[in-house]
Amino acid sequence: MWAAPVYGGRIPAAAKERFLQLKGTQTPAVLLAVFGNRDYDDALLEMCDLALAGGLVPAACAAPVAEHSIMHSVAAGRPDAADREKLAAFAQDVWRKLENEADISSLSLPSVKGRRPYMAYPNIPFKPAASAACIQCGKCARECPVNAIPEDAPEQTDKTRCISCMRCISVCPAGARGLNKIALALAEKVFAFKHGARKEPEFFI
Ligand SMILES: Cc1cc2nc3c(=O)[nH]c(=O)nc-3n(C[C@H](O)[C@H](O)[C@H](O)COP(=O)(O)O)c2cc1C
Repeated sequence: MWAAPVYGGRIPAAAKERFLQLKGTQTPAVLLAVFGNRDYDDALLEMCDLALAGGLVPAACAAPVAEHSIMHSVAAGRPDAADREKLAAFAQDVWRKLENEADISSLSLPSVKGRRPYMAYPNIPFKPAASAACIQCGKCARECPVNAIPEDAPEQTDKTRCISCMRCISVCPAGARGLNKIALALAEKVFAFKHGARKEPEFFI
């Protein structure tokens, strides 16, 4: 199973780089593009294309909803019990599909939405910064997936590398990392107005 978050309707380049290291020989794969209640756009299609190029066979795909990791009021608390129930049913369906198909090469491929060329990756303006509360422990630097925080100067952020994943904020033991509160509050209000209505996970078998 390969799961990636949806960033800007695509999968983050860092996730793609990691996935490219996986190679299969007609190996069945289940692909999940997790989105924050706006849209997953071309992310699942991109994942299917990468899987096929790497010798994997996308046997089933899903686009589950999770709390938005920048705009936390959107899809707050997702996945919830209803999501979990649907995901469990999906897992059963995938199991049945694979069990019933002895020959992987004749497996029917799910038809997911998305367009080629994929949408351009947008510039996401939210880059976390450290406040004076930073205790220089370096946890954020060690856990940043793209090495955007120098371990010897964890109060800094290399904005050209940062992918706005917010991991540094969630792991900081001193609560020292954050976004500009006013800019975030304004953006969140607009975003929640446009994309706040509940969306359901989508499944493709
Ligand atoms: C930089 C960034 C871009 C995002 N872009 C989208 C998007 O295009 N559509 C969407 O529905 N959710 C989007 N989200 C929300 C995430 O997909 C959702 O919160 C996510 O699956 C949680 O993943 P995480 O493990 O990175 O926190 C974005 C989140 C971040 C941090």
